[in-house]
Amino acid sequence: MTKLLLRALAGETLPTPPIWMMRQAGRYLPEYRATRAKAGDFLSLCYTPELAAEVTLQPLRRFDFDAAILFADILLLPQALGSELWFVTGEGPRLSTITTRAQVDALKPGDAIHERLSPIYETIRILAGELPKETTLIGFAGAPWTVATYMIAGRGTPDQGPAHDFKTADRAAFSALIDRITEATILYLSAQIEAGAEVIKLFDSWAGSLRDENDRHEFAIEPTRRIVSALKTRHPGIPVIAFPRGLGEGYRGFAQATGADCVALDNSVSPDWAARHLQCDSCVQGNLDPQLLITGGDALISEAGRITRALRNGPHIFNLGHGITPDADPDNVTRMIEAVRGA
Ligand code: CP3
Repeated sequence: MTKLLLRALAGETLPTPPIWMMRQAGRYLPEYRATRAKAGDFLSLCYTPELAAEVTLQPLRRFDFDAAILFADILLLPQALGSELWFVTGEGPRLSTITTRAQVDALKPGDAIHERLSPIYETIRILAGELPKETTLIGFAGAPWTVATYMIAGRGTPDQGPAHDFKTADRAAFSALIDRITEATILYLSAQIEAGAEVIKLFDSWAGSLRDENDRHEFAIEPTRRIVSALKTRHPGIPVIAFPRGLGEGYRGFAQATGADCVALDNSVSPDWAARHLQCDSCVQGNLDPQLLITGGDALISEAGRITRALRNGPHIFNLGHGITPDADPDNVTRMIEAVRGA
């Protein structure tokens, strides 16, 4: 195995960690903005394989990254299940809401998703043919809880209140929704792997708001475990990165409980703590504060070095604690990579 990212995910401790960034294809790059303008809007960009492949490749032409992440969005799956989806410029995603059991039952069956999502598989096939041989291709989906929070509220919410309310009002209907998303996610990710994705990442951006231990077990850990287990049964050896953002102490044991090969850290936990409590179980990815790519300077260099050194005695993939923001300076990405490789 020569690809660095796959070696780290297999548990190898490497002299310098493989590097990629969440949202590495995005609005901080002028070439991304130009291609999005050509596509017309964000969703058209996601659904036009040649253009989605183009923006996936753009950051690799500028930066020496070890991985490419498929350009798509976690909200395409709810759309394929029957939710309406649109993006309001400057505000973010909007979906039709789900507030009743009948609406959960009216969602399309999992195997109906492929018709809508086939352009995504085509993007992956294009990328599999075009990526440099040392670059790993990452496919992804949202984890069921995070996807459910958007499907229920119809938008991003600061406290995921509507999803918690639905869970309290009708736990059986809420569980049925989580099951429907879980089943569809298994089919979606299997198709991504068949098209050429070499690693899968599950984004549970709102996992931290599941503060009740039973809820966390039932709606963050268990669906992730089911997805990981089904994927590994269908595609033995496929590595999975889990990103249960905001779990804090709850990151401990997450890889073992779910079978994930790697946990991705936000920037609320320290790399020293992660080296002590997480690297014994799995590879660790993270956790540079994306703000540092706006501000740059010595703080960026020293923090990138500190993370790299703290996690050097176990399997580590260098990444950010969350996505790079539109106001980040691309030159700071180059400096970050140099700092990691020189640490
Ligand atoms: O990381 C990558 O480069 C791959 C592509 C990718 C996007 N979204 C593209 C995108 C990935 C992996 C995602 C994941 C995603 N999408 C998550 C989980 C990770 C996280 O950020 O917590 C979530 C919650 C979403 C839903 C979503 N998509 C929101 C809330 C927004 C609006 C906020 C924003 O950043 O504008 C999006 C839009 C989105 N998804 C953009 C991109 C590049 C910006 C759209 C644009 O070009 O205007």
